[in-house]
Amino acid sequence: MVQGIKKEDKDQIQYPRMDCVDEWVRHYRSYATEGRCASYIPALGKADPSQLGICIVGPKGSVIKSGDWQVPFTLQSISKVISFIAACISRGIPYVLDRVDVEPTGDAFNSIIRLEMHKPGKPFNPMINAGAITIASLLPGESSRAKLEFVYELIEKMIGKRPRINEEVFQSEWKTAHRNRALAYYLKETGFLESEVEEALEVYLKLCSIEVNTEDIALIGMILASDGYHPIQKEQVFPKNVARLTKALMLTCGMYNASGKFAAFVGVPAKSGVSGGILTLVPPGIKRELPFQDGCGIGIYGPAIDEYGNSLTGVMLLKHIAKEWDLSIF
Ligand code: DON
Repeated sequence: MVQGIKKEDKDQIQYPRMDCVDEWVRHYRSYATEGRCASYIPALGKADPSQLGICIVGPKGSVIKSGDWQVPFTLQSISKVISFIAACISRGIPYVLDRVDVEPTGDAFNSIIRLEMHKPGKPFNPMINAGAITIASLLPGESSRAKLEFVYELIEKMIGKRPRINEEVFQSEWKTAHRNRALAYYLKETGFLESEVEEALEVYLKLCSIEVNTEDIALIGMILASDGYHPIQKEQVFPKNVARLTKALMLTCGMYNASGKFAAFVGVPAKSGVSGGILTLVPPGIKRELPFQDGCGIGIYGPAIDEYGNSLTGVMLLKHIAKEWDLSIF
């Protein structure tokens, strides 16, 4: 049961079929050998590639958890969703979109090529590194600490606990962030980066190093599905227009250069990270079979990733669930 749910709500919860989810997780776990854990950040290479876990949270507090749902992992690029929301809340959507566009690239997440090819070098979207580093520089506050604090408070409102940084992953990233440094210096030179390079990088990489489990990201997905409203805490955490914009960006750009395939074969907004996490959600009110008629957030963890940087078994599991439960928004 999700933290904070009241006794009277508990009585109304319909528990969906869980046994089939366990079976699907067991089945897709066996495909993990076809992928491998990210190793360009040395600390991520230590994960167990055979793990696969899922947590699904509905707005009335009903939960399905299966497999390695409890294993901690770092947000990595899933943090791009949260920092974008934080920047929109603090600066307003027009200010943010003046500095970062909303167009998919079809390139790898850390690609540098389009920054110089398309003048004036405005990052294509906030879900790739160039966009997310720019977003980190726009966060409110005059120091990395203040900028991070703003995002930590937002996360705390959503998941009910203060986020924790995995120091080993952060140090590992910080020492190997050569391409991110190159992107940040380029963005500084073109005037898109509002803070100093090292400050934006520290914020960006610390947000990537926040430790979560599948339940935490499922809760964030559930709030996005509910247009920014936390149905359990009964609080509007961020405005509806920010939620809608974020979901559109997740659908078009959230799975890197496999976003088109994911939209075609799963059909819901999602954001992945190289540690093997996927934050996804199903909006309420669409014709669908089972089990969450009111929409839901889904958190996935499967550290064996594919050639695009997305969890290999996680995407397989999501494709299966989307088909079984008719989840596509289209
Ligand atoms: O910028 C990086 O290299 C990471 N900290 C984030 C990467 C990430 O998750 C992108 N991939 N799927």
